[in-house]
Amino acid sequence: MPDRSSRSRTAQRASRHTPRRARPALTAAATGALAAAAVLAFSPTAQAADTLGGAAAQHGRYFGAAVAPHLGETDYESTLNREFSSVVAENAMKWDATEPSRGQFNFSGGDQLVAYAQQHGKFVRGHALVWHAQQPGWVQGLTGDNLRQAMRNHIAGVAGHYKGKIDSWDVVNEAFEWDGSRRQSNLQQQLGNGWIEDAFRAAKAADPKAKLCYNDYGTDGINAKSDAIYRMVKDFRARGVPLDCVGFQSHLASNSDLSTYRQNLQRFADLGVHVQITELDVGGSGAAQANVYRQVTQACVAIARCNGITVWGVTDKYSWRAQETPLPFNSSYQKKEAYGAVLAALNSAAS
Ligand code: G3I
Repeated sequence: MPDRSSRSRTAQRASRHTPRRARPALTAAATGALAAAAVLAFSPTAQAADTLGGAAAQHGRYFGAAVAPHLGETDYESTLNREFSSVVAENAMKWDATEPSRGQFNFSGGDQLVAYAQQHGKFVRGHALVWHAQQPGWVQGLTGDNLRQAMRNHIAGVAGHYKGKIDSWDVVNEAFEWDGSRRQSNLQQQLGNGWIEDAFRAAKAADPKAKLCYNDYGTDGINAKSDAIYRMVKDFRARGVPLDCVGFQSHLASNSDLSTYRQNLQRFADLGVHVQITELDVGGSGAAQANVYRQVTQACVAIARCNGITVWGVTDKYSWRAQETPLPFNSSYQKKEAYGAVLAALNSAAS
């Protein structure tokens, strides 16, 4: 049972981190769920929440999933509806999907997901405005200022279209190598070091209220890559480049070394940015897999500025790593041991 001081710390945390939901306002059901979560957070007789989204909401966080076009499948949609309070398009908001020809935007997949989120009172993460992968063919041959202009137009077009509806945008995805050097993508080679801050400024102009994130993988501890990103974030914050959050993808395995995972998140949070676990999945099964899920969840809830966790898919059935069964729901939508570990970690943070 929480004492008065821990309850008030929880209240402060919740008010600081409650993310923006897709508009229009919440459905009655979602409002009820949030109200119930608020009561759970502050009542001395609190019951543990029985969904991931509900348990995370007790301390002002979201628990989300990446969504692929399977909403018509009954079990897929009911699992998503019930368990998750945030969604992100696994592919539908990427550059190849949204601007297949220069200046010709296609928002069909993204719009469907945003409409779904609005109907069900869920937050939306945007993924990803600029990335070296999944660029449409026409971008790949551009050089110099022509590419710079295309990048700026793309950000203005996509972030502008979704203005006010996205809680957090992955503005730039995966721009660093393991050794901490800049990835030698067409963006880096054609535009030089300034392209990342250029992208953040363009995103800020297009959607001033969204949290703007840098997102990457292999940053699951203190290492050369996370060091380099840390230096960039520190520099951006010092110079007023509009970066609000850092996404840690966390594509993990059951034997991943998490010895500096929490410490790493904390040092970024100490720079004044939000940190988010953005693409969590853990190859493996049983207790070993559950243990990694538990540690990641515990790390996030221990850090005030860690405001949400997203798993990279609803079910093992459609995971990009399906052979590795990396998600909390199996291919028959049954809850796995990993699910129980996450739920318990979220609930214990609220008690
Ligand atoms: O949509 C086409 C379909 O029309 C075609 O018939 C089929 C044939 O292969 O391909 C389909 O597109 C695939 C798409 O997923 C949708 O299923 C692409 O080939 C395939 O490359 C694409 O993979 C996605 C991958 O990003 C692309 O790099 C994965 O689904 C997606 O999970 C993955 O997500 C990334 C994050 O964006 C960034 N972080 C890493 C993460 C995992 O790689």
